[in-house]
Amino acid sequence: MKNISNLPRLPLGQYPTPFYKLESVSARYGRDVYIKRDDLCGVALGGNKVRKLEFLLAQAKIDGCDTVFTTGGPQSNHAALTAACAARLGMKAVLLLKRRGVTERRGNLILDELYGAEADLVDTDSYDEIYAEMRRRAAELETQGRKCCLIPLGGSTPLGAVGYVNCVREFTVQALAAGVRVGHIVSATGSGGTTAGLLLGARLFQPGAKVTGVAVSGDPFDRMVPELVKGAAALLECALAENPGDFEMVENVGAGYAVPNALDTPQILALARDEGILLDPVYTGKAYSKLCRMLEADSLSGDGAVVFVHTGGAAALFAMDLG
Ligand SMILES: Cc1ncc(COP(=O)(O)O)c(C=O)c1O
Repeated sequence: MKNISNLPRLPLGQYPTPFYKLESVSARYGRDVYIKRDDLCGVALGGNKVRKLEFLLAQAKIDGCDTVFTTGGPQSNHAALTAACAARLGMKAVLLLKRRGVTERRGNLILDELYGAEADLVDTDSYDEIYAEMRRRAAELETQGRKCCLIPLGGSTPLGAVGYVNCVREFTVQALAAGVRVGHIVSATGSGGTTAGLLLGARLFQPGAKVTGVAVSGDPFDRMVPELVKGAAALLECALAENPGDFEMVENVGAGYAVPNALDTPQILALARDEGILLDPVYTGKAYSKLCRMLEADSLSGDGAVVFVHTGGAAALFAMDLG
């Protein structure tokens, strides 16, 4: 197996992020619940995309790129963090965002502007059309001497997923130091790369731990996540036995992707008030609230501590109301 440290990576975030026990939550549910604060990764408002971008932009730099294209919804955390990281690296960011949901100048659309990105709303509901437009614009820029890289939705490629293998490696060291045995890892799933990285990371560094992805959209993650795991394992040249029992997808979509759900509001408020931690209504609020319901129903299998990976997303709190 290749050592992750030998893959090209730009140190964009401040790692390790904090890892600690949520005392109030653990007492409430009678189970040790820990949090991995990737919302505090030291870039902009933080979030999971930075770990992926450390690998994706390192490769882009090696390829000589000076311009980075990506996509998402108008309030995409991935697009905003790509813009922030690209700006730090002296690269131009072009964001082609689907015109749907909150398109007013709020939340991440304001941040995109702060980072100096070119953010354009595209009138389509199809990412295929957006990718076609990206390729067209990139080709045009390349005739003017620029070199472009295209990062897909959420940065969820096998290389992006390696960022979350790195996250498990990181909290494995923290858990060992704290004498914590990890039994279950839970996080939000939006395009699949984070969950895939967590799953491969668990197979490598936390054998026996289970990974639960909480889907916030209706995409077929049962198929997408294992495919990304395979791709990331190939990059790391590791041959791992499949273990279908260590992974499950559950859902908390509510009325739809990026539509806040009133069912989640009490949990979002409780974590803000009891622990001073901000969850957003699109990703982390849906994932955490589902986790609480599973803890309440005692339906999280496996023993050992539960680790909730906080993936960021706070900008949404400035773009939309809670449900
Ligand atoms: C705040 C936040 N949490 C979780 C996710 C989901 O991560 P992934 O796209 O890797 O599944 C995203 C990405 O879209 C996000 O912005």
